[in-house]
Amino acid sequence: MKTSRIALAAFAILTIIAFAMIVFLLTIQPPTVSAQSSTITVQVDKPGAAIPSTQYGIFFEDINFAADGGIYPEQIKNRSFEFPVAMMGWQKIERNGAKGSLAVLNQEPINADNQHYLRASVEKSGDGFGLLNEGFRGIGVQKGAQYSFSIYARKTERAPINLRLELTDTKGQNIGQARLGGFTNQWRKHSITLRPSASETKAKLSIFIEGQGKIDLDMISLFPRETFKNRPNGLRADLTKLLADLKPGFVRFPGGCIVEGRDLKERYQWKTTIGDLVDRRLIINRWNVEFKSRNVERSAEDYYQSFGLGFYEYFQLCEDIGAEPLPILNCGMACQFNTNELAPLDKLDPYIQDALDLIEFANGSVATTWGRKRAQMGHPAPFNMKMLGVGNEQWGPQYIERYEPFAKALKAKYPNIKLISSAGPSPQGERFDFLWGKLKDLKADLVDEHYYMPPKWFLDNAGRYDNYPRTGPQVFAGEYAAHVPAKGRPDRPNNWEAALAEAAFLTGLERNADLVTMASYAPLFAHVEAWQWSPNLIWFDNLRSFGTPSYYTQKLFSTNRGTNILPVLLNGSTKNAQNDLYASATFDKRTGEIVLKVVNVSTSAKEVSINLAGAGKPGKAGKAFVLTAAELTAENSLNDPAKVAPVERQFAVPSNQFTYALAANSLTVLRIPGV
Ligand code: AHR
Repeated sequence: MKTSRIALAAFAILTIIAFAMIVFLLTIQPPTVSAQSSTITVQVDKPGAAIPSTQYGIFFEDINFAADGGIYPEQIKNRSFEFPVAMMGWQKIERNGAKGSLAVLNQEPINADNQHYLRASVEKSGDGFGLLNEGFRGIGVQKGAQYSFSIYARKTERAPINLRLELTDTKGQNIGQARLGGFTNQWRKHSITLRPSASETKAKLSIFIEGQGKIDLDMISLFPRETFKNRPNGLRADLTKLLADLKPGFVRFPGGCIVEGRDLKERYQWKTTIGDLVDRRLIINRWNVEFKSRNVERSAEDYYQSFGLGFYEYFQLCEDIGAEPLPILNCGMACQFNTNELAPLDKLDPYIQDALDLIEFANGSVATTWGRKRAQMGHPAPFNMKMLGVGNEQWGPQYIERYEPFAKALKAKYPNIKLISSAGPSPQGERFDFLWGKLKDLKADLVDEHYYMPPKWFLDNAGRYDNYPRTGPQVFAGEYAAHVPAKGRPDRPNNWEAALAEAAFLTGLERNADLVTMASYAPLFAHVEAWQWSPNLIWFDNLRSFGTPSYYTQKLFSTNRGTNILPVLLNGSTKNAQNDLYASATFDKRTGEIVLKVVNVSTSAKEVSINLAGAGKPGKAGKAFVLTAAELTAENSLNDPAKVAPVERQFAVPSNQFTYALAANSLTVLRIPGV
């Protein structure tokens, strides 16, 4: 009896130990590898259409302080006192015993496009009289770098007056100073260099007026010497490098809704954005008062367009980063989400003329009126523009009525310029179908589709173009971004979930690169303290910047473009999206590599069998670029800019058939050499 009780107890203990061991072993298992195996067949012997060099590009819009306060590195806000609240961004300084006044005047201005200036009248200098500029959410300066301070000045009295400049950090410490004099009674530009002794994201610039009397000041500028390619009036180096690193095929500019304006008076007019900076007339930015009605107040009363970054600089940017310029022009329609103001059909000529003149500005010889203006700005050679957008995100019969005369006039004079037309603001529905029907009939070149949709839409639409007709216009995926709901925060997150869905969708575009010849994420830039819209591709503050997971997704596609489509079968099927996998492949004639892109949206790692059908003997090792994150909610930030960034590794290619382990929730680009 006693023996059997002992045996029972021993049996119970052993059972518990065995059970505990099973539980333990189960918990230390490596992450699940999906049992369902998949085969990816790349039909190497069936190369298809060429992948256009324009396949992956950039959509630039001056939204979220992308231009002034962003890539255009002017540090002085309201430099020419043309904001309607004329002293916005400026403060009067009157230290101990100082007395004087500051007034914004418009008599005898620098010119008619720059009608206002500041008159400083000093009665007593005391411990300091002058004015201070707050910059764009502060002034960003780097220690030891050179900043050119320039000012237009005119003295109205005889007494000598000097300007003392002082850069201060957030504690009020002086981090740079200089003195400027020699003013006369004529408007003249004066400049001097400042070299800050410390880096500061939120510096302020004070201009003290030394001496007594009156002086007129205008076009006050603090501009970094170091710009991208060191162009004068150039672009912020770190932000432009992020663009150049994408190796974009095109840059679409300047928008977006700012092309349209809230009304036609506020539309973007390229002719007012070229020439000397003092000749560029400032206007309000359409995003200044936008989004007032949303839960979160994101409007920005200090958002204007100085046009320091104007059409000449956009063309120069394209040339500097090797991208085709794609300007978008107003077609006689103000934003249809705002006033929907229309230029009457019999009054479209000035709009059409602007488009014809732009082509001459970009491509005309120096003997032409507008070609000469380009040459005078420093670029005698043509910019070789090949595409032009007629209107931004317009819709309805009103658009077609305006597109038609534009297309007729532009094609008559410039038959080789490809015209981009609009499919409206959403990627489906009545408006979309109406526009596509009409644009097909009109034999449009490229139709611009916009997709701001949830991640699931992007997954569901990876096969969207497989059955689009090949006889009509080509597709420009002009504005895409997966929108994950904001949930308890003001912005929609730029997280890995969004970027992964975009990656899956991009495989669908790449498979159809004969039809979808251009694609760009939107919007491009956002200042972390001054944004109106989210998500965006790149975020920045006054000194730092980072690419989002969507940036790295796009970068992996654009820097691994290849030259020809290769058909891909997933588990024997030509259909994309099988067993949580999305794939596209290209051949790169320049390097002889097969480039396979695979997106695994499963939460499990997957071992896939890759079959390079019809290929010769491959090289022994390939290069893999893997973009993944531990959680779908992962995001990059100023402090952790590369939390989600591609990792490069080598992998073995023993033969034309090999296995590869795809990480869970990942985008993998495989470059397989020597086939
Ligand atoms: O990218 C932001 C806005 O979205 C663009 O200005 C407009 O074209 C679209 O509605």
